[in-house]
Amino acid sequence: MSDKAILEYGGERFEFPVIKGTEDELAIDIKTLRASTGMVTIDPGYKNTGSCESAITFLNGEQGILRYRGYSIEDLAEKADFLEVAYLLIFGELPNKEQLEKFHSDIKEESQVDEEMKKILDAFPKSAHPMGVLSSMTSALVAFNPSCVDVASESAMYNSIVRILAKFPVLVAWTLRKKKGLPLDYGDDALGYVENVHKMMFKRPNKEYTKDQIAINALDKLLILHADHEQNCSTSTVRIVGSSHAGLFASLSAGISALWGPLHGGANQAVLEMLEAIEADGGDTKKYMAKAKDKDDPFRLMGFGHRVYKNFDPRAKIIKKSADEVLGNLGIEDPILDIAKGLEKEALEDKYFVDRKLYPNVDFYSGIIYRALGIPTEMFTVMFALGRLPGWIAQWREMRLRKEPIGRPRQVYIGEKHREFVPLEKR
Ligand code: CMC
Repeated sequence: MSDKAILEYGGERFEFPVIKGTEDELAIDIKTLRASTGMVTIDPGYKNTGSCESAITFLNGEQGILRYRGYSIEDLAEKADFLEVAYLLIFGELPNKEQLEKFHSDIKEESQVDEEMKKILDAFPKSAHPMGVLSSMTSALVAFNPSCVDVASESAMYNSIVRILAKFPVLVAWTLRKKKGLPLDYGDDALGYVENVHKMMFKRPNKEYTKDQIAINALDKLLILHADHEQNCSTSTVRIVGSSHAGLFASLSAGISALWGPLHGGANQAVLEMLEAIEADGGDTKKYMAKAKDKDDPFRLMGFGHRVYKNFDPRAKIIKKSADEVLGNLGIEDPILDIAKGLEKEALEDKYFVDRKLYPNVDFYSGIIYRALGIPTEMFTVMFALGRLPGWIAQWREMRLRKEPIGRPRQVYIGEKHREFVPLEKR
């Protein structure tokens, strides 16, 4: 096969190199397109545009494959813990015992959040959506840690990474505790990373915290499954904001806002609200299937479909099994799980969904587990953000180390041509 792509336009012929990734993915390198042809490409939603070369996550949507740094998501979800996966994503290799211990102890050293931050949190109404609160609080961290923006040295970068991995779970827990009216607390350095998250979220002021291994394992697995997903909306946001040399925390805050939307991370909240609405409406899944297929109805089957997966989302398979196990182990019978399974079965046999290759995605079953763990619906996307944190960090770090140029797409202007200015009194 030729390693060049030919473009013919206006009687001229232009050649562009074709590059190949390690998994044989092909891309036309159009870096010189505008300079040589005077044209740009147009690709709304970037459906055909590779924004970067990346060595972090491999995804094959046709075959339903997801790997972090070469390791399959199935193996990592089964055999690793979230902190190991975070290290793997950010630094490229699984840590050995000493590296993991040092990483964890460096994180613990940074696990304080300035007490003044509590005043900022205090100013939010209790009704504020937790994602807005989390994004603002992450941005506010910059003011208390101004040195974090120095990315000139690898050690400064490491310090920023460790700092945010330490402080972010505290912000997540505070966001939940504010919602529930619980006192704001700090973690316990004697605990594992995820166990500490669990304790910070659920510890009651008047009661000893008791370790809940089922909940901690479930949380660990969900965080791993959400840890990275290559160039999705929020990750691209983190990379593009970071490409202007804005700091890590500011870039992350923008990523959290991008994740919030119901077509992206906010889908986990939307799925549960949809399942609850179907249950309240008598559990008639067929009615909602018909609504989802009706082009005059804005309703979509939330948790179904994906920009890149045209096959089973491998994360959804793992989560579905996990939902069964967690609910079984906790002795919970949730009618919402049955509705979800019913919808899935119908969709997988329905021509509309089959033709469009719409399968359940990561968010279809995750909310059912979060609900079983006692996490309020509005907090689901915050949990997604906690899981995605190492992926965002890894992508931001890669972008800075590769010295990528500032992200600045072109456009095709379709507005008015030049017009003479009309003074106010003559309009
Ligand atoms: N229910 C009904 N129809 C759908 C759905 C759905 N959930 N998803 C896609 N379609 C239809 C869509 O109407 C279109 O039909 P047609 O070709 O007749 O116009 C076709 O399938 C292609 O859809 P699209 O919107 O062009 O595809 P996209 O790649 O732009 O959008 C998506 C992908 C995830 C935004 C979309 O499938 C969707 O809105 N799903 C529901 C929201 C959701 O679950 N989001 C979470 C994604 S996974 C978590 C994450 O990583 O963010």
